[in-house]
Amino acid sequence: FTSPGGCPVSPRAAAFDPFTGPYQTDPAASLRWSRDEEPVFYSPELDYWVVTRYEDVKAVFRDNELFSPAIALDKITPTSDEASSVLAQYDYAMSRTLVNEDEPAHMPRRRALMEPFTPAALAHHEPMVRRLTREYVDRFVDSGHVDLVDEMLWEVPLTVALHFLGVPEEDMDTLREYSIAHTVNTWGRPAPEQQVAVAEAVGKFWQFAGTVLDKMRKDPSGHGWMPFGIRVQQEQPDVVTDSYLHSMMMAGIVAAHETTANASANALRLLLEHRDVWEEICDDPGLIPNAVEECLRHSGSVAAWRRLVTADTTIGGIEIPAGAKLLIVNSSANHDERHFDQADDFDIRRDNAGDHLTFGYGSHQCMGKNLARMEIQIFLEELTKRLPHMELVPDQEFTYLPNTSFRGPDHVLVRWDPARNPERADP
Ligand code: HEM
Repeated sequence: FTSPGGCPVSPRAAAFDPFTGPYQTDPAASLRWSRDEEPVFYSPELDYWVVTRYEDVKAVFRDNELFSPAIALDKITPTSDEASSVLAQYDYAMSRTLVNEDEPAHMPRRRALMEPFTPAALAHHEPMVRRLTREYVDRFVDSGHVDLVDEMLWEVPLTVALHFLGVPEEDMDTLREYSIAHTVNTWGRPAPEQQVAVAEAVGKFWQFAGTVLDKMRKDPSGHGWMPFGIRVQQEQPDVVTDSYLHSMMMAGIVAAHETTANASANALRLLLEHRDVWEEICDDPGLIPNAVEECLRHSGSVAAWRRLVTADTTIGGIEIPAGAKLLIVNSSANHDERHFDQADDFDIRRDNAGDHLTFGYGSHQCMGKNLARMEIQIFLEELTKRLPHMELVPDQEFTYLPNTSFRGPDHVLVRWDPARNPERADP
């Protein structure tokens, strides 16, 4: 068995399957063998080279010319003819946004669109995020049990995302369905019979994005990142193109909300599974910011990202040909003992927790990272204050949407005794 590059493929490399089983439940643990023995391997199943050690993943992120991000939003599973024709009916044309844009186009666009992400601009959103979080907690605080994902962690980040983007609040359930379809379409392996339904939802999402954009263009004076982009386009039409705006209108909704919803669900699960740590942050909320960073490291919501090799090179000593596609597994890098001491331990006082690669690294590093951090911090502040006695419903099985990259439990069921709610004693 040999790869196109002529390298032998080991049995474990040949068996690597990121769409089922151990990778889904714990991607870092499922690739421990690779970090230890074969840190760069070719996966014939994917036709990707898989990179799993911290230094190698970081080096790939660092050089965005040798390792182009152009394929970051490509479909990892080629669509059937039938699904392709459904997408064509909707004139689906997802193209370059920022995350998959090469230089020299990328940097001028990133700079032109950065202002709404500055700390000063983000500070305006904090009261809204807190108010929204409180309203959602109000709805279930007296009930004694809740699915945190369905009743809070999905919709609050979606509402914040729409607000940040300047998109009017739409039917939340429909947007959730569209977003999941986009994830499956981009990073999943839908069965042939599933592909057409996914294509329908993605096509509708594309059309929805176009309609919102057309409306916004008529009056681009409103708040939010997308109207801001339309205004920048009027000054710099070559930097902020029509194709960018339509693609980002759709991709931005997913980038800003699904990532954060999943990260929050991972964090709550992890903290409640470590009861002593949960109680520590209940007693001392000052620990929350570094706890958020450690949650993002230990159980991040973007498990792997992609790059295209533009010239013959080596990664970790392995020769990789130009044209090769890379799956860089940041969730594995985040558990690399070569960089993080006792990497599998969950340690909210870890001094280098912030070195994690969950937001990527280098010139494409996540622009929304501080918005995401703020949201997760506020969720933890509000939940530790109002429901310190909540616990995971025992023996629940956590399930994940099968895909390479976006990772968070479908449900997180928790319960508590409402008679012990602190606000009853001290309203
Ligand atoms: C890029 C992860 C939240 C907007 C990225 C990248 C990753 C990522 C892995 C690619 C980085 C690279 O190629 O080096 C995450 C995670 C989030 C999150 C884990 C939540 C926990 C957000 C939010 C927004 C956002 C809330 C906001 C609107 C973006 C944008 C880019 C990006 C615009 C493209 C940057 C560029 O290519 O220059 N994110 N993200 N993200 N993210 Fe996030």
